[in-house]
Amino acid sequence: MKVSDIRSKFLSFFESKGHTIVRSSSLVPGNDPTLLFTNSGMVQFKDVFLGTEQRPYTRATSAQRSVRAGGKHNDLENVGYTARHHTFFEMLGNFSFGDYFKRDAIKFAWELLTTVYQLPPEKLWVTVYAEDDEAHDIWAKEVGVPVERIIRIGDNKGARYASDNFWQMADTGPCGPCSEIFYDHGPDVWGGPPGSPEEDGDRYIEIWNLVFMQFNRDEQGTLTPLPKPCVDTGMGLERIAAVLQHVHSNYEIDLFQALIHAAGRETATADLANNSLKVIADHIRACSFLVVDGVIPGNEGRGYVLRRIVRRAIRHGYKLGVRKPFFHKLVAELVAQMGDAYPELREAQQRVTDVLRAEEERFFETIEHGMSILDAAVADLKQKGGKVLDGELAFKLHDTYGFPLDLTQDVARENELSVDDAAFDTAMNRQREQARAAGKFKMAAGLEYAGAKTTFHGYDTLDLEVAKVTGLYVDGLAVDTMQPGQQGVVVLDHTPFYAESGGQAGDRGVLTAGTTAFTVSDTTKIQPDVFGHHGALAGGTLKVGDSVLARVDALNRARTVRNHSATHLMHKALREVLGGHVQQKGSLVDADKTRFDFSHNAPMTEDEIRRVEAIVNAEILRNEATSAEIMPFDDAVKSGAMALFGEKYADTVRVLGIGSSRELCGGTHVTRTGDIGLFKIVMEGGVAAGIRRVEAITGDNALAYLQSLDTRLQEAAAALRAQPSELTQRIHQVQDHVRALEKELERLKSRMAASQGDELAQQAVDVAGIKVLAAQLDGADTKTLRETMDKLKDKLATAAIVLGAVQDGKVSLIAGVTADATSRLKAGELVNFVAQQVGGKGGGRPDMAQAGGTDAAALPAALAGVAKWVGGKLA
Ligand code: ALA
Repeated sequence: MKVSDIRSKFLSFFESKGHTIVRSSSLVPGNDPTLLFTNSGMVQFKDVFLGTEQRPYTRATSAQRSVRAGGKHNDLENVGYTARHHTFFEMLGNFSFGDYFKRDAIKFAWELLTTVYQLPPEKLWVTVYAEDDEAHDIWAKEVGVPVERIIRIGDNKGARYASDNFWQMADTGPCGPCSEIFYDHGPDVWGGPPGSPEEDGDRYIEIWNLVFMQFNRDEQGTLTPLPKPCVDTGMGLERIAAVLQHVHSNYEIDLFQALIHAAGRETATADLANNSLKVIADHIRACSFLVVDGVIPGNEGRGYVLRRIVRRAIRHGYKLGVRKPFFHKLVAELVAQMGDAYPELREAQQRVTDVLRAEEERFFETIEHGMSILDAAVADLKQKGGKVLDGELAFKLHDTYGFPLDLTQDVARENELSVDDAAFDTAMNRQREQARAAGKFKMAAGLEYAGAKTTFHGYDTLDLEVAKVTGLYVDGLAVDTMQPGQQGVVVLDHTPFYAESGGQAGDRGVLTAGTTAFTVSDTTKIQPDVFGHHGALAGGTLKVGDSVLARVDALNRARTVRNHSATHLMHKALREVLGGHVQQKGSLVDADKTRFDFSHNAPMTEDEIRRVEAIVNAEILRNEATSAEIMPFDDAVKSGAMALFGEKYADTVRVLGIGSSRELCGGTHVTRTGDIGLFKIVMEGGVAAGIRRVEAITGDNALAYLQSLDTRLQEAAAALRAQPSELTQRIHQVQDHVRALEKELERLKSRMAASQGDELAQQAVDVAGIKVLAAQLDGADTKTLRETMDKLKDKLATAAIVLGAVQDGKVSLIAGVTADATSRLKAGELVNFVAQQVGGKGGGRPDMAQAGGTDAAALPAALAGVAKWVGGKLA
């Protein structure tokens, strides 16, 4: 039975039992920062289990793409070492949301395995959670599994509920006891039944996990019962395929064999049993699907997990002797194997290929050097009989050569060595500390402050009557009084000034008290809740304890606010136009513009840019009121607000509703979308592999931009004596005209050269049987010189000729000697005789040589001496 049949039989079996077939969700869980990747079928149903989301069905079934790398469930290190671990796999599952429970879950599973898939019942073993008598009895009494093959597994991992038979999605979330079904691959494979000391062998393999979801685990570790008991099951498609295809390793199933063949081809490896091919075949699946779902290789979070997997795959290719990008070439085979079940993979084929190729090219620049260092260290250690590779070395490989720790560990493990992780961590922390210290120094310049925190009022007002000065700094040092003309930082207890954060620039404005005026040019946070107003004291003195009037530059703020609100609308529009893989990678909003970086692999087309502009401007024209609501983080995410992965959010967050967009954001925004006025993209470009940047402007900036474009257009049109609307046509006309003139000029030049040739020929003098001619052709380019030379040679028969021309103060020389005279005189010598007198040097063939020179004034005399020189030469 082929993998595709196994998948479809599973889904139709559960459909026949009243389950709705639900499509696989993305590997990047929607708005769930508690989870790195979708690691099982239940992830997309998490809120349904918790009772906070309703669906029109209570029974569901799915084939879910899943990744277990880098998170709570992490199999990366095992790939290539066992027959059944993968970074990427597909999980077949059936789910009950408060509908059926243990009895039906067990009976459905048994029926599918023994009747649809026709597995011999005597090959199946089951486990139950030690305390779960109910599940035990259903297996024993109702299904009829002999009790010797039902194994109770308790809390075997050191804590309450820490058990192979108690499943949880992550450190928090739905969980419950489970019952697992194992397949016995037979006595010729080493291993023992679950719970036995030999359980890690490959003989008894878990194929299906039935989880009886009963609790939600919170951050304190407390379990509260779910509103209703539920069922979540998961069967690894690759494992059941191995069983049904009568092979012992997942890598022997049809799908993997196809990928391994392709990997063998691309790495020129004939031995298809080579372990590295398995690793590569596994990794191409994880990497491709992660890119499909919007992840881009990077240095943090999900992007770093992807980078680690790609680089691990490349290292295995390197081990097989490959020295240039190969990995991305496997995407085509993957699409052939899985594109039918996952149309999103087929659609993204080109993008996936491009992203992986870019990452490969980057790593191939450093891998060679890194590997030679690592290989030398391994050899040295082995020679000394050591077992543990230096953590500092692993860190250097990481830091300088881009070797993720697990790659170095993989190499170490192949050599029966390990890596000193603790020393690696120490080195890593030391570097982080240094970076942090450097960053702190720059930001706060040593501003020591222990006073009251700053309360921010700038969402509601731009003027604050009484703000008290709680700190003053000049040259980075605290002072009591600031003198006129001094530059420094003012801390206030209350302020309407927005301090730079979340990509929005800090406010400008002025602090005044009587005749005292401090001009604020920027506002930053000098501590998390302490606002520093940077600027200069224009007049008067300022003392700690003074009351000031704080006034934000309203125009500057209004422009910033327009750009910020437009950024939210643009973010949403980009996802609409380019696809859900678009994720914010950075943004900078100030009074001039918004600059927005996002994941996307190709330059935006003109049409895409126009569509984004149209969507944003349509939202502006709807002129809806915007909203800012404070709410618990979970509610915000549930309401569909966009959160950035890897950002740390507080328990309560601010949700900005602008037009149809909802985003978590602490920035300042317009009151109605119409306040933005006009939105215009002015730049689109690439910043890094897979990351694009757009810059856009709004309001009066957009108007000024369009007006200046218009002015330039008018000027250009006037210069061409055309109407702006005819400009393009007129430019084409002018270009055609110029081309025609150039052709005509060419023709005339060559005609002129020809006629000059005729005249010149008469100037030749006979020197010992050779016609010698040296002449100046002013205004001629080298092409004309060459053509004239050819003509003269024809005309003069046995001849030695030098032609010179001056153009833009530079001398061009050409010398020619007819073939019948080259035995007596070489063109190179001839040209050099003239060239050295005009400050140049040249060379060429015996019959034709060229040179240049800088001394135009010396040319006539030099040419005049040619005949005499030839005479001397031939004598
Ligand atoms: N969610 C369960 C698992 O992944 C079925 O094993």
